[in-house]
Amino acid sequence: MNPIKTDDTINKIHGYKILDSRGNWTLAVEVNNYIGITPSGASTGTYEAKTIDTEKSVNLVNTKLQKLVGMPLNQKIIDNELETIDGTDNFSNLGGNTTTAISMAVYNAIASKTQVGNIFPYPLGNVFGGGAHGGYTEFQEFLAIPTKSKTIINAIETNEILYHTLKTKLLKIQKGNIGINDEGALTAKLNNIQALDIITDIADDVGCRIGLDIAASEFFDGKTYNYKTSGKKLKPEEQIEFVIELIKKYNLYYVEDPLNELDFEGFKEITKKVGKQCLISGDDLFVTNTKRLEMGLKSANAIIIKPNQRGSITRTIETINLAKKNNYTPVISHRSAETTDTTIARLALDYSIPIIKAGVVDMRIVKLNSLIQYWNNSEKPKMTKPNLKL
Ligand code: PGA
Ligand code: ZN
Repeated sequence: MNPIKTDDTINKIHGYKILDSRGNWTLAVEVNNYIGITPSGASTGTYEAKTIDTEKSVNLVNTKLQKLVGMPLNQKIIDNELETIDGTDNFSNLGGNTTTAISMAVYNAIASKTQVGNIFPYPLGNVFGGGAHGGYTEFQEFLAIPTKSKTIINAIETNEILYHTLKTKLLKIQKGNIGINDEGALTAKLNNIQALDIITDIADDVGCRIGLDIAASEFFDGKTYNYKTSGKKLKPEEQIEFVIELIKKYNLYYVEDPLNELDFEGFKEITKKVGKQCLISGDDLFVTNTKRLEMGLKSANAIIIKPNQRGSITRTIETINLAKKNNYTPVISHRSAETTDTTIARLALDYSIPIIKAGVVDMRIVKLNSLIQYWNNSEKPKMTKPNLKL
């Protein structure tokens, strides 16, 4: 049963600032002692819900939004009320960070009284990276997905093995010159192709397929995609060809944001050509927004789901439902600045979301450990069946 409502009312709502993984303040909200904490991004999409200053958010929760006390503990009612108070589509008055934390706290309060789902997602783990998260490659994330695993424990462990094998190999070939970035992904002075070659080798051995988050808006200047490490400049049609080549050559399972966030047509061309063998996923393209997904129903076959891109759980669920209805694979995701919040792990189970992108190491393990805990407490846990044959 999906956690939507209870017979309870909200008897307490309290906001305060708390640290995120980049060491910045972010908003924590407690609703009836259940917590929601907003993460934040570095490669944010232009059309995401607006973020306001954390101090301002805390203040709003503890003053103006105290009017939520006494209202029913009901996801839709609370989220609708937040929309009404705000009065804009992108929460520019209250801040999407404010509304997300409240909405997630409400979700967790309701979920605590509801049976959790038993179909588990495959973890998509960021093992090597660059772009806005730090590193040399223009591609932001090199991702592993343990397609042969039959349990969440084995799936998580397989990504860990890939990560640690990669670390050992990089330490050796880079003579100790490696690092980690904002998402705990390994970094080294390699170009995109060198990184893909090394990771693919290991992935084959450990039983993973490979994915990429190209986050192409970050190196698109309006005319060309600029690859600084090689000096290569690709026109949009050349970028399309390049991405298709990579999908074929490396048997990629998943590619996110191969093109800039405005290029619905280019996405469509890639999906038409390779959408049967690879998930083509929109993050900055769709920003978890039903209106943008409707604009691009033929543009991709997967969509990143980030509650704080949209500003509420109700709106997030609408996007998940629209995606599923249109045979899209929803991929629920962390942000580069994360917190100890585990709401996305619970959402993955409650809405049978087939893939969760939640990192491999550092504080991101709270999401993975939460899945392990649910697995161990579930009577009949099973792994999902994603749209693509694993
Ligand atoms: P962000 O990046 O959280 O820094 O926006 C994550 C992603 O692009 O998937
Ligand atoms: Zn992305």
